[in-house]
This record gives sequence, C-alpha cells and structure tokens, in this order.
Amino acid sequence: MPVTFTHSALLLSLLLGFGQTQAASEREPAALAASNGIPYPAVIAHRGASFDAPESTAASYRLARDLGADYLEMDLQRSQDGVLFALHDNNLQRTTDVASKFPERKDSPANQFTMAELKTLDAGSWFNQAYPDRARPAYVGLKILTLDEIIDIAQGNPQHKPGLYIETKEPRQFPGIERDLREKLQDRGWLSPAGSKLAKSELAVGQGKGKVVLQTFDKHSLELLQKEMPRVPKILLLWVGAGSIEAQSRQTFAESGEKTKAAFYAKQHPKDEAEFKRWVDYAKAQGAIGTGPSTQLSDLGDQSYSDLVQPWMNQYTHDQGLLVHAYTVDEPVDFKQVLDAGVDGIFTNRTSELLKYVKRPAGASIAQLLEANGY
Ligand code: G3P
Ligand code: CA
Repeated sequence: MPVTFTHSALLLSLLLGFGQTQAASEREPAALAASNGIPYPAVIAHRGASFDAPESTAASYRLARDLGADYLEMDLQRSQDGVLFALHDNNLQRTTDVASKFPERKDSPANQFTMAELKTLDAGSWFNQAYPDRARPAYVGLKILTLDEIIDIAQGNPQHKPGLYIETKEPRQFPGIERDLREKLQDRGWLSPAGSKLAKSELAVGQGKGKVVLQTFDKHSLELLQKEMPRVPKILLLWVGAGSIEAQSRQTFAESGEKTKAAFYAKQHPKDEAEFKRWVDYAKAQGAIGTGPSTQLSDLGDQSYSDLVQPWMNQYTHDQGLLVHAYTVDEPVDFKQVLDAGVDGIFTNRTSELLKYVKRPAGASIAQLLEANGY
C-alpha cells in the first residue's frame, strides 16, 4: 500500500512519540541505574558498616558485605612505598594509635608511612573508646587495609558479592593514583566485562556492569579517571565550599558565629541555581553517570552539611540523565527525606538500617554476622 501524507504524518508522529518515550524512559532514574548495572536505590556502605565496627577495617567491610550492602565504599590513598590503601583522614591520629607508635610523626600525612609501618598500627581500639556501647574486644588491633585486601573481602562471600565504590581522596597528594587504581583493578579482574549470567543476579552487583563506581570531589581527578577507565561509572561528589560549589556567602565558620559546623553548613547555599547546574553539567560533560551531593540531616550532627538534595536539584540532575547518590545518611527520618526528594542511592554508616528501610533486610543480626566473622 502506498504511504499517503496522512500515513506519513502518522508514522512520523509515532516515530517522534516513540523517540520521546525512549528519551523520557532513559531519564527515569530506575532505568538509568539499571542501564549502568547499579542497584536502585543503591545501598553504599560508607567505610563499611562503620556505625557498628571500626571504619575501613576488615570487621567493618565484612559486616557490610554480609548484611547485603550493594557497595563497599572507601577513600583511597597511597603509601610512601606505593601501596593503595583505604583511610579517610589525611593523618592517622583519629583512627589509630600512631601517637604512641610514632610520636614524632603523629601529625604526618598517612602517605608518608610505608605499608609495613601502617600495618603496625592498631586501627580498632579508638572505636572501643569512642563508642563503648558498640565496643568489642576483637576490634583491638584491627589493621589498616590495602585495596587488595578489600577486594578479597568483596569477593569472599559466595552468597553476596558487593561492588566497590572508590573515592580518590585528596588526589593531588597522589599524582598518578588514577593510573595505579586502573592497574590494580585490571590485575584483579575488576575491569573485565560482566559475565552475563552473574550480571543478571541481584546478588552479584560485584560481578555486573556496575561492579566498580569511582567517585571524587576533584574535577581534575574525574578527568583522569575518565581517561584511565572510560567505561567505569563515575560520580562527581558535591558540596558547598572551597574547591566545589561556590557559596552565596563568603563568611567562614569562624566569622559566622555559629556554634557548630552543621549549623554553619545549614546556611551555606550555592551562589545561585546556575552555579549548582554548572557543576551538574560539568559532571555530565566529563562522562560521570551521576553526582554525590551532601545532605542536611535532621539531627544537625557531624555529618550534616549543605542541603544539595532539594527536589529541584535532583530533578535537574535526572533531566540531564544523571543519578544522585547522597552522603552520608544514617537515620530513617533522613532516609525518607532524601528518598522522597528523589535521590537514587545513599551512602550510609548504618547498612543494616538502610537495608531495612528499603525492604531488603539482612538475613541475620549484626551481632550474629560479627561473631560469624570472628569479632
Ligand atoms: O564519598 C562520599 C562521602 O564519603 C564523602 O564524604 O568525607 O566521608 O569521604 P567523606
Ligand atoms: Ca568517601
């Protein structure tokens, strides 16, 4: 049958309509996450299950894995002798006994220690002192972990293989760390294409397309990560302040007169809408699959920062075809607030609580899992 004008117009409108449907569905956060092999909403164990065990140690990562976290989050650094390891702070004071083992170097950056020196430190006892209600004798003497050791943990439970969510921490201190990371992940088989059978399994995030997510606050590091690992999903972390989104006010915390940092951050807003959007646009232009914004928490505690997950912000980010993974949220009231606002994944210290909230509760208690792992 010849195609008449009417038929052509109909065909065209159907085609256009189909195109629009496709484009709209590609912007749907759940579909976006699925296309990257990332669970929705994603449960990201911030430094492991770090509310219940010393952060970034084997106890914390094993617990997060066995609870069923989608990702083990870590802050990546490099020792003086070139070994990649996980530690959040720039120095070792808060989370180790460096002051007693190396008193004269207690304020030195962690990267000025060899891995052998780092391995002499006790990275667990501080937790028992800080949180006596969650203390365990087996936490005493826990070690700082290399990336290799965290990979071993991620691969160590046949029932659940979480992915790795790796932040290049203060990357300007570590020239070439993006290349070192690519080499390590490649050596360990974490950059190989997903096995199709395992990729379909909900229990195998760590073997699917989204098994590694790379994150950074640093624009230059994002560019280097993209160059080294163009096919690995990347997140640009966002906050309001130096090196990130420009604030409306130039007042410092000291000048503000606020009693707590959280009260100060609560009043820190992006300079204007355009400034927020510029950062999202930049993330997209550099090949990121999403952003990792800060959140303001209901308790205005130590983890409460500027509110960068307002619904319009999440909507704008989704409209650009990007996901939103927000940090760092531990309480149900805040899980609700940020998920209602539209975020697609949450960094949490309380893996167990977030899994309960998203109706994927762990099959065993925290105590049972810690004990099963010898803690
Ligand atoms: O990596 C996301 C979140 O962890 C950023 O904050 O300081 O805990 O690394 P921080
Ligand atoms: Ca981090």
